[in-house]
Amino acid sequence: MRFTPGFIARNPVATTALAQCTTMRIGGPATLVTLADRADLPELLAQPHRWLGKGANLLVGDDGVPEAVVRLGGAFASCVLGPLRAGRATVQCGAAVDLAELISVCIKAGLAGPEGLAGVPATVGGALRMNAGTSTCWTMDWVTRVEVVLPGEDAPSWLERAALAAAYRSCGLPPGTLFLGCELELAEGDPERLRAQAATLKKAKATSQPLAQPSAGCVFKNPAPGLPAGRLIDELGLKGARHGGAEVSTVHANFIVNPGRDASAADVAALVRLIRGRAWRERGVVLEMEIETWACPTELHLHPGQLSEVVA
Ligand code: EPU
Repeated sequence: MRFTPGFIARNPVATTALAQCTTMRIGGPATLVTLADRADLPELLAQPHRWLGKGANLLVGDDGVPEAVVRLGGAFASCVLGPLRAGRATVQCGAAVDLAELISVCIKAGLAGPEGLAGVPATVGGALRMNAGTSTCWTMDWVTRVEVVLPGEDAPSWLERAALAAAYRSCGLPPGTLFLGCELELAEGDPERLRAQAATLKKAKATSQPLAQPSAGCVFKNPAPGLPAGRLIDELGLKGARHGGAEVSTVHANFIVNPGRDASAADVAALVRLIRGRAWRERGVVLEMEIETWACPTELHLHPGQLSEVVA
């Protein structure tokens, strides 16, 4: 990939181990670009690229990726609250804003909704892309419009929320879609109540999830309402199963953790194969990846009946 000197002067470009950019602390090298200037979007879109948010829901292969890995910078980091009218207000939010920051701004302004996502590690762009959420709400719940660049297009466009077929952990747009920002419409709420609600959610997560260890959050989507993947994997007796430096969390079985920060993507992939194989053979359940994978074996996304079990 080649960027012009002007591009490089305005937008930092560096070779980086992606392990430093993912919460799982796994991933080989890539050219990391921070797109600070919106005017440089066309030059970037003309190069092979991948979009990175907070790296919180991502497993990157050990050999890294050849494409430019792009994070959004300053031009996409603003959050602007509109005036309250009849108990409602709109919020314009750039994709580079940390989701925790958006939640905090809304709570302070007494705007309800986003506090339900408290504790979800993401940028706003990443949260939109994955339709990140909890057991009670999803990012797309309060979104009215999104600004995106669709794969293959060379300019941004605004799409109405009603045009997106968003679903559980899916934004309804194709992989490779770049989210530049969104507009939310929120109802008035009592800041103290919203703050208490956010604190309760974070406390519940800290109790039930291994937040002190590197991970990418829940590895698998819950296969059906009332059938949480974590409970299923737990019942299969797989908590604590290890492969190399990777371990099925002993706290929450739908997390694979990297406690010594020395696990490889191949270690994680081996545990994924083990879990999916057992869930399929012993329960007839197909566990679908919730986390995104880059340059990992494609078989992780195939029907588990086609996979060979790895003994951990
Ligand atoms: N459970 C077990 N053993 C385990 C883990 C869970 O028996 O090892 C049981 C729990 O006791 C509970 C049920 O399974 O009865 C569901 O567990 P939990 O309440 O932790 O919810 P979850 O369905 O596993 C979902 C989201 C989480 C989100 C939490 C809280 C998915 C895949 N996961 O977890 O999202 O934080 O609800 O709202 O939808 C993520 O997306 O990365 C993520 C962690």
